[in-house]
Amino acid sequence: MKKQRVLFIGAGRMAEAIAAGLMKTGSSKIEEIIMSNQRDDQRLKRLKQKLGVTTTHNWRFEVANSDVIVLAAPPVAHQELLAELSGFLTGQFVVTIAAGMGPSFLEESLPLHTPVAWIMPNTAATIGQSISLYAMGTSATDEHKKVLHMLLKGMGESQECTEEEIHHLTAITGSAPAFFYQFTEHLIEAAKGYGVEEKVASDLVVQMLYGSALMLKKEKQPAALREQVTTPGGATAEGLKVFAENQFGSIVQKAVEATNKKALGK
Ligand SMILES: NC(=O)c1ccc[n+]([C@@H]2O[C@H](COP(=O)([O-])OP(=O)(O)OC[C@H]3O[C@@H](n4cnc5c(N)ncnc54)[C@H](OP(=O)(O)O)[C@@H]3O)[C@@H](O)[C@H]2O)c1
Repeated sequence: MKKQRVLFIGAGRMAEAIAAGLMKTGSSKIEEIIMSNQRDDQRLKRLKQKLGVTTTHNWRFEVANSDVIVLAAPPVAHQELLAELSGFLTGQFVVTIAAGMGPSFLEESLPLHTPVAWIMPNTAATIGQSISLYAMGTSATDEHKKVLHMLLKGMGESQECTEEEIHHLTAITGSAPAFFYQFTEHLIEAAKGYGVEEKVASDLVVQMLYGSALMLKKEKQPAALREQVTTPGGATAEGLKVFAENQFGSIVQKAVEATNKKALGK
């Protein structure tokens, strides 16, 4: 693979995570990274200092010399961005990380035969621990896939999916970290309710979740792990009974469905 010039349109948290990961794991394959946004000067200055990337407010001048263009702006900005980008493209590989913007939407919006791909990462990309889903467009080749793997590697683990699978899994791998953090907040509040100091409560809960996540990673059997903690008729079983009575499973299902619906703009 030739060294790549990667242009980011949008320079927020996700763009920073991908660029930082690229610097760590793909620097030998990178010619230059260019990051752009519309307004936030301070942010571009900070990214330039921290990552050594080139920055600009005008991505339009950079398209001609780029190999890969990563769309890291919000989903609502995409329609307009894709329309404008179309006028500058000469075969560059276009990748979006926006929720709901699958390869078929990119292909409909960009010139015929533009190679495209869609990545759905999560915020753990900032520490190289994302599980990122991806789908390739119909004109993307094996070479494009190699370039995509270079982008993905710095973010953590990845899994190729169909576009439809990513639409269904967006809530589960992209948004569910927020569900998990909300559960964490509620446990901390419960501990505080018993008079435990906030910092102590937070440290205890975070370590409990970290240990449980490591157990899950090793055993991969959530039901068996749950049963290990739950003596029939015991205290934990009483707590889980409250979950069941309040239809915890159905709440999770509804949250997943609402997230996916919104990501699809419905
Ligand atoms: N955060 C997550 O957990 C997560 C997970 C998966 C996917 N994503 C996707 O990742 C994308 C970025 O998310 P983020 O969390 O990084 O958001 P963010 O931190 O808010 O960053 C968005 C960036 O886009 C820029 N921007 C906005 N409109 C633009 C436009 N029209 N042209 C060029 N740049 C524009 C913003 O800067 P200016 O306002 O200065 O232009 C900012 O740099 C979104 O599409 C989101 O769906 C996020």
